[in-house]
Amino acid sequence: MSEGNAIQHLISLQDWPVQEVEDLLELSARIKRRATPFQLSGKTVGLLFFRGSLRTRTSFEAAMHQLGGHTIHLAAASDFWDLEVQEGAVMDGRAPEHVKDAARALSRYVNALAIRPAYAGQSWEVDRKDSGIQAWARYARVPVINMESALWHPLQALADLLTLRESLGDLRGKTLAISWTRSTQPSSAAVTNSLLLAALRAGMRVRVAHPAGYDLDDEVHSRAVEQAQNGRTSFETGMAQEEALKGAHVVYARSWQSLVDYGNPTLAASRRSRLTGWTLDEGLMKLTENGRLMHAMPVRRNLEVSDEVLDGPRNLMYEQAENRLHSQKALLVKLLRG
Ligand code: CP
Repeated sequence: MSEGNAIQHLISLQDWPVQEVEDLLELSARIKRRATPFQLSGKTVGLLFFRGSLRTRTSFEAAMHQLGGHTIHLAAASDFWDLEVQEGAVMDGRAPEHVKDAARALSRYVNALAIRPAYAGQSWEVDRKDSGIQAWARYARVPVINMESALWHPLQALADLLTLRESLGDLRGKTLAISWTRSTQPSSAAVTNSLLLAALRAGMRVRVAHPAGYDLDDEVHSRAVEQAQNGRTSFETGMAQEEALKGAHVVYARSWQSLVDYGNPTLAASRRSRLTGWTLDEGLMKLTENGRLMHAMPVRRNLEVSDEVLDGPRNLMYEQAENRLHSQKALLVKLLRG
Protein backbone atom coordinates (compact mmCIF):
# COMPACT_ATOMS: atom_id res chain seq x y z
CA MET A 1 0.00 0.00 0.00
CA SER A 2 1.38 3.44 -0.85
CA GLU A 3 2.20 5.82 1.98
CA GLY A 4 -0.80 7.61 3.41
CA ASN A 5 -3.22 6.20 0.79
CA ALA A 6 -6.29 4.14 1.58
CA ILE A 7 -5.44 3.84 5.26
CA GLN A 8 -8.05 5.25 7.57
CA HIS A 9 -6.42 7.18 10.42
CA LEU A 10 -8.13 8.98 13.29
CA ILE A 11 -6.36 12.28 13.88
CA SER A 12 -9.43 14.46 14.43
CA LEU A 13 -13.06 13.36 14.60
CA GLN A 14 -13.84 16.16 12.12
CA ASP A 15 -11.87 14.26 9.45
CA TRP A 16 -14.43 11.46 9.53
CA PRO A 17 -17.75 11.81 7.70
CA VAL A 18 -20.79 12.38 9.94
CA GLN A 19 -22.23 8.98 9.01
CA GLU A 20 -19.07 7.13 10.02
CA VAL A 21 -19.06 8.83 13.42
CA GLU A 22 -22.75 7.96 13.75
CA ASP A 23 -21.96 4.32 12.91
CA LEU A 24 -19.19 4.28 15.52
CA LEU A 25 -21.55 5.66 18.18
CA GLU A 26 -24.19 3.07 17.33
CA LEU A 27 -21.62 0.29 17.49
CA SER A 28 -20.30 1.67 20.80
CA ALA A 29 -23.80 1.58 22.27
CA ARG A 30 -24.35 -1.99 21.00
CA ILE A 31 -21.02 -3.09 22.45
CA LYS A 32 -21.90 -1.47 25.78
CA ARG A 33 -25.30 -3.21 25.96
CA ARG A 34 -23.97 -6.76 25.71
CA ALA A 35 -20.88 -8.89 25.99
CA THR A 36 -18.54 -7.99 23.20
CA PRO A 37 -19.24 -10.30 20.27
CA PHE A 38 -16.35 -9.09 18.17
CA GLN A 39 -13.03 -10.83 18.31
CA LEU A 40 -9.71 -9.31 17.38
CA SER A 41 -7.66 -12.37 18.19
CA GLY A 42 -4.28 -12.29 16.52
CA LYS A 43 -4.45 -8.48 16.17
CA THR A 44 -1.93 -6.23 17.87
CA VAL A 45 -2.01 -2.49 18.53
CA GLY A 46 1.14 -0.55 19.41
CA LEU A 47 0.52 2.14 22.02
CA LEU A 48 3.19 4.84 21.99
CA PHE A 49 3.09 7.36 24.80
CA PHE A 50 5.31 10.41 24.54
CA ARG A 51 3.33 11.82 27.51
CA GLY A 52 1.68 10.10 30.47
CA SER A 53 -1.86 8.78 30.66
CA LEU A 54 -4.10 6.97 33.11
CA ARG A 55 -7.44 6.46 31.33
CA THR A 56 -6.33 6.32 27.71
CA ARG A 57 -3.73 3.66 28.28
CA THR A 58 -5.86 1.54 30.60
CA SER A 59 -9.03 1.74 28.50
CA PHE A 60 -7.11 0.91 25.31
CA GLU A 61 -5.36 -2.07 26.85
CA ALA A 62 -8.59 -3.32 28.46
CA ALA A 63 -10.50 -2.86 25.17
CA MET A 64 -8.00 -4.86 23.12
CA HIS A 65 -7.73 -7.57 25.80
CA GLN A 66 -11.53 -7.94 26.00
CA LEU A 67 -11.70 -8.17 22.20
CA GLY A 68 -9.18 -11.00 22.21
CA GLY A 69 -6.33 -8.87 20.84
CA HIS A 70 -3.05 -7.67 22.24
CA THR A 71 -1.30 -4.36 22.88
CA ILE A 72 2.35 -3.41 23.07
CA HIS A 73 2.90 -0.42 25.33
CA LEU A 74 5.92 1.77 24.67
CA ALA A 75 6.72 4.83 26.79
CA ALA A 76 9.11 7.37 25.29
CA ALA A 77 10.67 8.01 28.68
CA SER A 78 11.88 4.42 29.09
CA ASP A 79 11.37 2.32 25.94
CA PHE A 80 12.60 4.39 23.01
CA TRP A 81 14.10 7.74 22.15
CA ASP A 82 13.49 11.13 20.57
CA LEU A 83 12.32 10.86 16.96
CA GLU A 84 13.01 13.40 14.23
CA VAL A 85 9.87 14.53 12.38
CA GLN A 86 11.36 17.03 9.90
CA GLU A 87 11.53 15.66 6.36
CA GLY A 88 15.06 15.97 4.95
CA ALA A 89 16.63 16.81 8.31
CA VAL A 90 20.38 16.33 8.76
CA MET A 91 20.12 14.27 11.91
CA ASP A 92 23.03 15.59 13.92
CA GLY A 93 20.86 16.55 16.92
CA ARG A 94 19.31 14.66 19.84
CA ALA A 95 17.08 12.31 17.86
CA PRO A 96 18.87 9.13 16.70
CA GLU A 97 15.95 7.94 14.54
CA HIS A 98 13.46 9.47 12.11
CA VAL A 99 9.75 8.88 12.65
CA LYS A 100 9.65 7.74 9.00
CA ASP A 101 11.81 4.72 9.82
CA ALA A 102 10.18 4.00 13.18
CA ALA A 103 6.69 4.12 11.63
CA ARG A 104 7.66 1.89 8.69
CA ALA A 105 9.34 -0.67 10.96
CA LEU A 106 6.55 -0.79 13.55
CA SER A 107 3.98 -1.16 10.75
CA ARG A 108 5.56 -4.57 10.04
CA TYR A 109 4.69 -5.76 13.59
CA VAL A 110 1.30 -4.30 14.50
CA ASN A 111 -2.14 -3.78 12.95
CA ALA A 112 -2.56 -0.20 14.22
CA LEU A 113 -0.52 2.42 16.02
CA ALA A 114 -2.05 4.61 18.72
CA ILE A 115 0.08 7.62 19.58
CA ARG A 116 0.02 10.28 22.30
CA PRO A 117 2.60 12.68 20.85
CA ALA A 118 4.73 15.18 22.71
CA TYR A 119 4.77 18.86 21.84
CA ALA A 120 7.43 21.37 22.85
CA GLY A 121 5.16 23.93 24.55
CA GLN A 122 7.32 26.84 23.32
CA SER A 123 5.25 28.25 20.46
CA TRP A 124 1.56 27.69 19.74
CA GLU A 125 2.17 28.41 16.05
CA VAL A 126 4.52 25.41 16.00
CA ASP A 127 2.59 23.09 18.31
CA ARG A 128 -0.78 23.68 16.62
CA LYS A 129 0.58 22.03 13.47
CA ASP A 130 0.52 18.67 15.30
CA SER A 131 3.66 17.69 13.37
CA GLY A 132 4.30 14.58 15.47
CA ILE A 133 0.98 12.81 14.91
CA GLN A 134 0.82 14.02 11.31
CA ALA A 135 4.23 12.47 10.63
CA TRP A 136 3.16 9.11 12.06
CA ALA A 137 0.04 9.19 9.88
CA ARG A 138 2.11 10.10 6.81
CA TYR A 139 4.63 7.29 7.17
CA ALA A 140 2.79 4.41 8.88
CA ARG A 141 1.35 1.64 6.72
CA VAL A 142 -1.31 0.83 9.34
CA PRO A 143 -4.06 3.02 10.86
CA VAL A 144 -2.79 5.71 13.24
CA ILE A 145 -4.99 6.75 16.16
CA ASN A 146 -4.43 10.10 17.86
CA MET A 147 -4.51 9.59 21.64
CA GLU A 148 -4.40 13.40 22.23
CA SER A 149 -2.23 15.85 20.38
CA ALA A 150 -1.87 19.59 21.06
CA LEU A 151 -4.97 20.36 18.97
CA TRP A 152 -7.29 17.33 19.13
CA HIS A 153 -8.46 14.52 21.43
CA PRO A 154 -10.81 12.53 19.16
CA LEU A 155 -11.09 9.52 21.50
CA GLN A 156 -12.35 11.72 24.32
CA ALA A 157 -14.81 13.45 21.97
CA LEU A 158 -16.18 10.09 20.84
CA ALA A 159 -16.77 8.96 24.43
CA ASP A 160 -18.22 12.39 25.24
CA LEU A 161 -20.72 12.17 22.36
CA LEU A 162 -21.78 8.72 23.57
CA THR A 163 -22.23 10.05 27.12
CA LEU A 164 -24.17 13.10 25.94
CA ARG A 165 -26.52 10.92 23.89
CA GLU A 166 -27.08 8.55 26.79
CA SER A 167 -27.92 11.46 29.07
CA LEU A 168 -29.89 13.74 26.72
CA GLY A 169 -31.15 11.51 23.90
CA ASP A 170 -31.39 13.58 20.71
CA LEU A 171 -28.71 16.26 21.00
CA ARG A 172 -30.19 18.67 18.46
CA GLY A 173 -31.22 21.91 20.18
CA LYS A 174 -29.79 20.94 23.56
CA THR A 175 -27.42 23.40 25.27
CA LEU A 176 -23.86 22.53 26.19
CA ALA A 177 -21.90 25.01 28.32
CA ILE A 178 -18.13 24.50 28.21
CA SER A 179 -16.61 26.28 31.16
CA TRP A 180 -12.96 27.12 31.62
CA THR A 181 -11.93 26.22 35.16
CA ARG A 182 -9.08 27.13 37.48
CA SER A 183 -6.01 24.90 37.47
CA THR A 184 -2.41 25.22 38.52
CA GLN A 185 -1.33 23.21 35.46
CA PRO A 186 -3.81 23.75 32.64
CA SER A 187 -3.54 21.41 29.68
CA SER A 188 -3.88 22.21 26.00
CA ALA A 189 -7.37 22.92 24.67
CA ALA A 190 -7.41 19.61 22.72
CA VAL A 191 -10.38 18.20 24.67
CA THR A 192 -12.32 21.47 24.31
CA ASN A 193 -11.55 21.81 20.60
CA SER A 194 -12.69 18.29 19.76
CA LEU A 195 -15.79 18.45 21.95
CA LEU A 196 -16.82 21.88 20.66
CA LEU A 197 -16.79 20.86 17.00
CA ALA A 198 -18.33 17.44 17.66
CA ALA A 199 -21.18 18.92 19.70
CA LEU A 200 -21.92 21.60 17.08
CA ARG A 201 -21.89 18.95 14.36
CA ALA A 202 -24.43 17.00 16.43
CA GLY A 203 -26.68 20.08 16.42
CA MET A 204 -26.08 21.23 20.01
CA ARG A 205 -26.12 24.89 20.98
CA VAL A 206 -22.69 25.56 22.52
CA ARG A 207 -21.59 28.36 24.82
CA VAL A 208 -17.97 28.64 25.94
CA ALA A 209 -17.19 30.57 29.13
CA HIS A 210 -13.63 31.68 29.71
CA PRO A 211 -11.72 34.62 31.23
CA ALA A 212 -10.01 37.24 29.08
CA GLY A 213 -6.86 35.89 27.46
CA TYR A 214 -8.11 32.31 27.11
CA ASP A 215 -9.63 32.56 23.63
CA LEU A 216 -9.67 29.42 21.55
CA ASP A 217 -7.33 28.87 18.63
CA ASP A 218 -8.39 31.12 15.71
CA GLU A 219 -8.89 28.27 13.26
CA VAL A 220 -10.91 26.22 15.75
CA HIS A 221 -13.04 29.32 16.39
CA SER A 222 -13.63 29.84 12.65
CA ARG A 223 -14.54 26.19 12.17
CA ALA A 224 -16.97 26.39 15.10
CA VAL A 225 -18.67 29.46 13.59
CA GLU A 226 -18.93 27.68 10.23
CA GLN A 227 -20.17 24.47 11.86
CA ALA A 228 -22.86 26.38 13.77
CA GLN A 229 -24.03 28.11 10.57
CA ASN A 230 -24.08 24.87 8.57
CA GLY A 231 -25.93 23.04 11.34
CA ARG A 232 -28.36 25.92 12.00
CA THR A 233 -27.36 25.98 15.64
CA SER A 234 -25.53 28.51 17.81
CA PHE A 235 -22.02 29.06 19.11
CA GLU A 236 -21.13 31.80 21.58
CA THR A 237 -17.81 32.25 23.32
CA GLY A 238 -15.93 34.49 25.77
CA MET A 239 -18.84 34.87 28.16
CA ALA A 240 -19.00 34.70 31.97
CA GLN A 241 -19.74 31.36 33.63
CA GLU A 242 -23.12 32.54 34.94
CA GLU A 243 -24.25 33.55 31.46
CA ALA A 244 -23.05 30.32 29.83
CA LEU A 245 -24.56 28.03 32.44
CA LYS A 246 -28.03 29.61 32.50
CA GLY A 247 -30.46 26.98 31.22
CA ALA A 248 -27.67 24.62 30.06
CA HIS A 249 -28.41 20.89 29.93
CA VAL A 250 -24.78 19.88 30.39
CA VAL A 251 -21.77 21.75 31.77
CA TYR A 252 -18.35 20.55 30.62
CA ALA A 253 -15.55 21.72 32.90
CA ARG A 254 -12.10 22.06 31.42
CA SER A 255 -9.02 24.14 32.02
CA TRP A 256 -6.79 25.15 29.14
CA GLN A 257 -3.69 27.26 28.69
CA SER A 258 -3.75 30.87 27.56
CA LEU A 259 -2.43 31.12 24.01
CA VAL A 260 -1.32 34.70 24.80
CA ASP A 261 1.30 33.45 27.29
CA TYR A 262 2.01 30.15 25.55
CA GLY A 263 5.63 29.14 26.10
CA ASN A 264 6.07 31.58 29.00
CA PRO A 265 5.18 29.74 32.23
CA THR A 266 5.95 32.76 34.43
CA LEU A 267 3.55 35.08 32.60
CA ALA A 268 0.98 32.27 32.36
CA ALA A 269 1.12 31.67 36.14
CA SER A 270 0.87 35.40 36.77
CA ARG A 271 -2.23 35.66 34.54
CA ARG A 272 -3.85 32.74 36.38
CA SER A 273 -3.02 34.19 39.81
CA ARG A 274 -4.94 37.37 38.98
CA LEU A 275 -8.16 35.45 38.38
CA THR A 276 -10.81 34.93 41.01
CA GLY A 277 -13.68 32.44 40.82
CA TRP A 278 -13.83 29.93 37.94
CA THR A 279 -14.45 26.97 40.25
CA LEU A 280 -17.68 25.15 39.37
CA ASP A 281 -19.80 24.72 42.47
CA GLU A 282 -23.41 23.84 43.26
CA GLY A 283 -24.43 27.50 43.29
CA LEU A 284 -23.34 27.85 39.66
CA MET A 285 -24.79 24.48 38.66
CA LYS A 286 -28.19 25.62 40.05
CA LEU A 287 -28.34 28.11 37.16
CA THR A 288 -28.62 25.20 34.72
CA GLU A 289 -31.66 23.25 33.54
CA ASN A 290 -31.04 20.48 36.08
CA GLY A 291 -27.68 20.29 34.26
CA ARG A 292 -25.22 17.44 34.44
CA LEU A 293 -21.49 17.86 34.88
CA MET A 294 -18.90 16.39 32.51
CA HIS A 295 -15.13 16.37 32.82
CA ALA A 296 -12.51 14.42 30.83
CA MET A 297 -10.34 13.90 33.97
CA PRO A 298 -7.95 14.20 35.69
CA VAL A 299 -9.87 16.79 37.74
CA ARG A 300 -8.44 19.01 40.47
CA ARG A 301 -11.07 18.81 43.20
CA ASN A 302 -12.18 22.06 44.81
CA LEU A 303 -10.08 24.03 42.34
CA GLU A 304 -11.80 23.13 39.06
CA VAL A 305 -15.00 21.63 40.48
CA SER A 306 -16.25 21.41 44.08
CA ASP A 307 -16.51 18.10 45.95
CA GLU A 308 -20.25 18.70 46.32
CA VAL A 309 -20.76 18.66 42.54
CA LEU A 310 -18.29 15.85 41.87
CA ASP A 311 -19.73 13.60 44.58
CA GLY A 312 -23.34 14.49 43.77
CA PRO A 313 -25.94 13.20 41.31
CA ARG A 314 -25.05 15.65 38.53
CA ASN A 315 -21.70 14.08 37.81
CA LEU A 316 -21.34 12.11 34.56
CA MET A 317 -17.56 11.93 34.46
CA TYR A 318 -17.28 8.28 35.47
CA GLU A 319 -19.74 7.41 32.67
CA GLN A 320 -17.46 9.32 30.32
CA ALA A 321 -14.46 7.38 31.60
CA GLU A 322 -16.32 4.07 31.12
CA ASN A 323 -17.45 5.11 27.66
CA ARG A 324 -13.81 5.44 26.59
CA LEU A 325 -13.70 1.65 26.80
CA HIS A 326 -16.84 1.01 24.72
CA SER A 327 -16.17 3.64 22.07
CA GLN A 328 -12.53 2.59 21.63
CA LYS A 329 -13.66 -1.01 21.19
CA ALA A 330 -15.98 0.18 18.42
CA LEU A 331 -13.14 2.12 16.81
CA LEU A 332 -10.76 -0.85 17.01
CA VAL A 333 -13.34 -3.17 15.47
CA LYS A 334 -13.95 -0.66 12.67
CA LEU A 335 -10.26 -0.09 11.93
CA LEU A 336 -8.96 -3.64 12.40
CA ARG A 337 -11.85 -5.65 10.96
CA GLY A 338 -13.16 -3.15 8.42
N1 CP B 1 -9.06 11.92 29.51
C1 CP B 1 -7.85 11.38 29.28
O1 CP B 1 -7.37 11.32 28.13
O2 CP B 1 -7.23 10.88 30.39
P1 CP B 1 -5.70 10.43 30.47
O3 CP B 1 -4.87 11.67 30.21
O4 CP B 1 -5.53 9.88 31.85
O5 CP B 1 -5.45 9.40 29.41
